[in-house]
Amino acid sequence: MNTIEKDILKVLISEAELKARVREIGGQIAMDYENKDPLFVGVLRGSFMFFADLMRVCPIPCGLDFLAASSYKNATVSSGVVKIDYDIRSNIAGRHIILVEDILDSGNTLYNLAGHLRDRGAASVALCVLLDKPARREKPIQPNYVGFTVPDEFVVGYGLDYADRYRNLPYVGVLKPEVYA
Ligand code: XMP
Ligand code: MG
Repeated sequence: MNTIEKDILKVLISEAELKARVREIGGQIAMDYENKDPLFVGVLRGSFMFFADLMRVCPIPCGLDFLAASSYKNATVSSGVVKIDYDIRSNIAGRHIILVEDILDSGNTLYNLAGHLRDRGAASVALCVLLDKPARREKPIQPNYVGFTVPDEFVVGYGLDYADRYRNLPYVGVLKPEVYA
């Protein structure tokens, strides 16, 4: 059968490790937000699997919403400007937001999105990322919840893609170099 597994060089974070860590984060958020009725906001599309698993292990009263964003780039430089392709529907004035993203890399995406949500009147905006890749940070930004810190390698799976593929891998892995060629 033609499966996506054949393109994976190595597993970086296994299904079991993901499950255990997501459960810990869900428990931590449940304690921190027990009586705050937080609004979880997932950044599409990369966060979808983490988001769904996190919600299942965070049994407190809460709401959820989604947004989608992309970075403006030209041929030579990444401008660091982020465009919101799809915005949340909820009225967030006075709400405690937990912004959920697959990976924090340069920081441009979450820096801009957090600012956008604060501008709309959120009482607080916390950042919850499955992966943190601090090596390439450009913005002063500190995540509140981190699943795993990863080295400066391009990773796929568990929501993360290369050319919109591999999001459906149940673990986080590194692609074989020939896949990029
Ligand atoms: P910034 O640089 O704004 O990046 O923090 C966040 C977005 O860039 C994508 N990204 C990755 N996607 N593997 C991926 O599949 C990676 O290693 C990777 N690094 C950054 C991701 O979409 C994230 O939302
Ligand atoms: Mg993304």
